[in-house]
Amino acid sequence: MKALKIAPSILAADFARLGEQVRAASDAGADYIHIDVMDGQFVPNITLGPVVVAAIRKYTTLPFDVHLMIRAPEHFLAPFADAGANLITVHAEECQQLHRVVAQIHALGVKPGVAINPHTPLVALEEILPYAAQVNVMTVNPGFGGQTFIESMLPKIARLRAMADAQNPELDIEVDGGVEIHTAPRCVQAGANILIAGTSVFGPGASIAEHLAALRRSIET
Ligand code: DX5
Ligand code: ZN
Repeated sequence: MKALKIAPSILAADFARLGEQVRAASDAGADYIHIDVMDGQFVPNITLGPVVVAAIRKYTTLPFDVHLMIRAPEHFLAPFADAGANLITVHAEECQQLHRVVAQIHALGVKPGVAINPHTPLVALEEILPYAAQVNVMTVNPGFGGQTFIESMLPKIARLRAMADAQNPELDIEVDGGVEIHTAPRCVQAGANILIAGTSVFGPGASIAEHLAALRRSIET
């Protein structure tokens, strides 16, 4: 069984106190910091660029998992690597030459990930799986935090795990969108091992540490 990791998504953090929030998540035992980059083109929202990634880099030593929801991501790989990304994930839907982009990420000394939107069939990954370190199975349509988990993604995760077992057993499977204490254990059961969680870590109702502990309990019991 692969190690289970929790990657808080700063999309739901208080952007006026981003550094402190990253440090709090880090102190509370997060495994990665998930950073959502949106350009208003690939998705209908705009977030942040390399300058912000560089600014928060000094608040934690945890790996930065940078999720590029942008057009032509190949132009921004080096800037994000230089800013401190440890993993860079690009969308299969956006890359005409996905194999080339994955190789470019690898050449920067960064782990390559491939993300797929809810409607994208797994066959889109078949030829790239051996080259990827991780796949991000989007469990909402990308663009916003706080959306409802799409239930039909659970069997998709299970089918991807089976594909990965045959082609690349080391592959990490991330789930992204609507991950909270009820959906998280089901994602893990289906075969995901990295849980990206925004609202359920940085949202209201409890501290970041309490939220993170609850999420961890939900997948470890
Ligand atoms: C959505 C982003 C997610 C988002 C998840 O486009 O890729 O990482 O932050 O947010 P929650 O956990 O609130 O659904
Ligand atoms: Zn994301």
